[in-house]
Amino acid sequence: MHARKVTAIAYPNIALVKYWGNRDHTLRLPSNDSLSFNLGDLRTTTTVEIDPSLSHDEVTLDGRTIGGAAYERVVHHLDRIVDSVCATQEVNGRSRTRMRVTSINTFPMGVGIASSASGFAALTLATCTVLGMKPSEAELSSLARLGSGSACRSIPGGFVSWHDSFAITIAPAQHWNLMDVIAIISNEHKTVSSTEGHALAETSPLQAARITDTSRRYELCRQAIMNCDFAALAEVVEQDALMMHAVAMTSQPSIIYWASTTLNILSAVRELRESGVPVTFTIDAGPNVHCICEQHALKQVKQMLWQMSGVIDVIQSGVGGPASVIAQSHGSHDDTQQVTPFHISPKDRV
Ligand code: PMV
Repeated sequence: MHARKVTAIAYPNIALVKYWGNRDHTLRLPSNDSLSFNLGDLRTTTTVEIDPSLSHDEVTLDGRTIGGAAYERVVHHLDRIVDSVCATQEVNGRSRTRMRVTSINTFPMGVGIASSASGFAALTLATCTVLGMKPSEAELSSLARLGSGSACRSIPGGFVSWHDSFAITIAPAQHWNLMDVIAIISNEHKTVSSTEGHALAETSPLQAARITDTSRRYELCRQAIMNCDFAALAEVVEQDALMMHAVAMTSQPSIIYWASTTLNILSAVRELRESGVPVTFTIDAGPNVHCICEQHALKQVKQMLWQMSGVIDVIQSGVGGPASVIAQSHGSHDDTQQVTPFHISPKDRV
């Protein structure tokens, strides 16, 4: 008998070589390879419960029942996971048993920290487990990708590479003590979603050049990670982020994710690095700045950020592990068992 209720955790990830644009929008197959690390001090915890008494799926995010497009996106993801196993399950796409999804983040959503990445990674793992599936890590990563592209990178742990349909670990979390110190300058939900941004990427004349150059940036970044070479990392991470934003800014219509404080932080990060502190910046689809530094530089980076006007919060995280299942229960009464966190073994990768 498989579980009726499963809780999984996943961490958001920060891309060092960014994914921007799809070669297939429906399948969220990326236009370019990317590299990231998981943010182990920020987490999404998602419980998926099969409840035959429900007439429709119920989705609660950070204590609020959600509806509209966000709800449809989650339900569509549940449908596609069920569809992928309907041949072997008593459920099927049309009349499947409904599920109750409860998800909690330890960080703000929709502000350039990848809540959709950790959200869809945790949702995928919890849903597959509650349905009794035993996917490989690569299969889980591929399924998570269909919910949100970068979610595929939140399935494996540590430093992660996403090539085409799924992502794999290239170095474990302990490999390098990097920190992501995130300067929050706005808690407003981003105005243009990353999904919309990906769809517009090809309208920029710069996107083709960015894609052609990806293998160079990817290799420089991969080597910098493997050699723990911060100076090399800083150079390629900043260039990559600026190239992604140059594409967004020159898309039609144009997307400018930055605020004036964003630019001030970029200058301050470079000044600090020139003074000998190992720190660099990257920016996702929002105005907040991710300052990547070595652990010993943490205090100086935080001090610098708190001194800047326009910074309303500073969130920090080290490198994190893979998505894992933390609890499951089998009966209708609450017999939830905490389980030692497990994840799919890398040897199961396809
Ligand atoms: O996975 P999405 O659709 O939220 O896209 C992520 C886009 C960026 O965060 C800007 C870049 C990346 O590679 O994570």
